[in-house]
Amino acid sequence: MQTELIEKLYKTGDLSAEELKGLIENRSTDDFELLSRYARQRCEESYGDRVFTRGLIEISSYCKNDCLYCGLRRSNGNAERYRLSQEEILACCENGYGLGFRTFVLQGGEDGYYTDEFLCGVVSEIKEKYPDCAVTLSLGERSRESFQRLFDAGADRYLLRHETADKAHYERLHPKEMSYDNRMRCLSDLRDIGYQVGCGFMVGSPFQTVDCLAADLRFIKEFQPHMVGIGPFIRHKDTPFADMPDGTAELTLFLLSVVRLLLPKVLLPATTALGTISPTGREQGLMAGANVVMPNLSPVLVRKKYSLYDNKICTGEEAAECAGCLERRVSSVGRRLVCERGDYGS
Ligand code: 5AD
Ligand code: FES
Repeated sequence: MQTELIEKLYKTGDLSAEELKGLIENRSTDDFELLSRYARQRCEESYGDRVFTRGLIEISSYCKNDCLYCGLRRSNGNAERYRLSQEEILACCENGYGLGFRTFVLQGGEDGYYTDEFLCGVVSEIKEKYPDCAVTLSLGERSRESFQRLFDAGADRYLLRHETADKAHYERLHPKEMSYDNRMRCLSDLRDIGYQVGCGFMVGSPFQTVDCLAADLRFIKEFQPHMVGIGPFIRHKDTPFADMPDGTAELTLFLLSVVRLLLPKVLLPATTALGTISPTGREQGLMAGANVVMPNLSPVLVRKKYSLYDNKICTGEEAAECAGCLERRVSSVGRRLVCERGDYGS
């Protein structure tokens, strides 16, 4: 058992790439038990028994990109496409506000239809109607000027997973017109502008090695994001990775605990992908150090169309059902789902 290494991570909040690699390669169930106990402890010191909730609104399934792993890729002719109007987005927020959400996450593919003008209008309207709420955007890569305009319109946070911190691996997951350097440029612009920023990666994505994971963890430690999104890779039947194996809940949970110990105050969701790969994945995520859940607020009519991967959960449920379901799941592990903005360090 790797007790010494785990205690070092717990005490110093840091390990070298080599140490992280060893920790992952040699991991045992006993290691995970100790690691997750420490991770829960750090999480409790930072946030008590609170779990923050974010209302996720999937605004568009159009995407101009062609990431090899994603069901929304432009080459997927079987994908059903939709985009929500300003009125539809605001209706989701109204519904969500009534259910107690104080953060709205607007997520979508890279859809050219959503100009800065359109998005700034939506963001400022939400902030005007709900001044006590945070707005998080998750709309992919944009120019620095665009990020700045959206920030000036009132957006508080931005989620942009780095996907992998290994450049060669990045190039195996993306078509050649996408670049690792631009991804990193976006993340540093977002941080400079003043957003609370989230990065993250998939666990078990095709061609991922333990070296890739060690690089992801070192990147996360050095970039010091406010949020980290980690979920298992899950294949989508209409992508080039249709026959690749899925990531595992086991490794995802292990890495959630490592991230909590590297960044004690990080906002760390128990993701929908984790809940898809395992029926109790999200509860286990909370037990491993996660402190955020992101129920779906999208209109039920479009839910199935926002298909990043196969068998995604929550595609038939109304917003109120997802909110209630998650509240019960959070309580079942002795934690408390709260109606707060849930800012970093709050
Ligand atoms: N499996 C799991 N996660 C995926 N994502 C995209 N496609 C998949 C997939 N097949 C993740 C990416 C992206 C986020 C919105 O969803 O990491 O950044
Ligand atoms: Fe959507 Fe459980 S969170 S049904």
